[in-house]
Amino acid sequence: MSLFRTDLLHADAPSDTKVPRKKHMMCLNESILNPYPLIDEAFNQTMQDVSLNRYFDDIRDTLHKLLTEYVGHGIKEENIIWANGADDMLYNIFLAVREDNDSFALSLAPSYFDYSTFTRAVGLNFETLDFNDDLDFDADKYLKVLNSKNCRLGILCNPNNPTGQLLSDDKILYILRNTEKPVLLDETYFEFSGATMVDRVKDFSNLIIVRSFSKAFSMAGVRFGYMISQEKNTLEIRKAQTVFNVSSLVQAFVVSILLNKHVFLAHTKKAIELTKQMHSDLGALPNVKVMPTQTNFVTFTIGEKTSKLFEYLKEHEIAIRDVGAHRLLKNYLRASCGSYEQNAYFLEQVKNFLKLS
Ligand SMILES: Cc1ncc(COP(=O)(O)O)c(C=O)c1O
Repeated sequence: MSLFRTDLLHADAPSDTKVPRKKHMMCLNESILNPYPLIDEAFNQTMQDVSLNRYFDDIRDTLHKLLTEYVGHGIKEENIIWANGADDMLYNIFLAVREDNDSFALSLAPSYFDYSTFTRAVGLNFETLDFNDDLDFDADKYLKVLNSKNCRLGILCNPNNPTGQLLSDDKILYILRNTEKPVLLDETYFEFSGATMVDRVKDFSNLIIVRSFSKAFSMAGVRFGYMISQEKNTLEIRKAQTVFNVSSLVQAFVVSILLNKHVFLAHTKKAIELTKQMHSDLGALPNVKVMPTQTNFVTFTIGEKTSKLFEYLKEHEIAIRDVGAHRLLKNYLRASCGSYEQNAYFLEQVKNFLKLS
């Protein structure tokens, strides 16, 4: 007899072993800014008034106010709930929509790897609809599965990781109009793409937007993410969360980041320019195909020799991500935007490899 869930017996535990640890970490779409030195004064100041010995602290209200202001578009405090990273937020939403053993969530594929990990963890089945070869998708086919009896949630990642492209607004709206099922729009890379459906939350009672502080706000190691939806949804999803889920320490950190948001948004602008440069530099090399990107990463292939390039880069202290598991991305790699110098070094190593091979 298994002491733990039998459906998870043969699953892998979440681990970071698949990601190589190298000097140049260009594999997880992180920011290159370490935020603490940039906000330490604001953080230390904010912490003066936080009682870490208490469960409740007013920092929660300050955070709600600042985050609501940042999100804008008439969104109110009751439209926002938060968690320890977008991952944790996704996990909570999956937990909140699961009804029974037949319940499933639907995502386009290829998309964010961990949708399948977290749905599985909460016992929610997971189905996918492949993008077309041109990375567009058939909204009617998507709706057909979404509107089927046991589908509890549609997931759309916008812009999509790991392909980098935005979905068309028309298709997202078409889906929202033609289903009553909840549609989770993952806007983790919103600050890079500038595209959002936040202004449509008031119109669609089934729209749930998830965002992250890991990318534009440099907080991957601190962990903070949030969702925006109509109040009736935030109330339901809140029921699947623990009561004091995000520590006052993290809340104070986010407050300090938001008080200094201009620093991070200015850096994001720079990262967008650097990503564009990386995209055009790579695309100018012979036999390199690069996907359009609205994010802080580039997804590319050099064809049959791609896996050798991946190893070569590792040997030269560059970690990027092999995203080739899905048929549509066979032989594709994903590289996050680094500093100007890191990107130049990355490009030089790709060029060296192409000369050698
Ligand atoms: C599309 C997408 N969603 C969610 C996440 C998780 O973000 P967080 O670090 O906030 O948990 C990532 C991280 O790379 C992502 O790419």
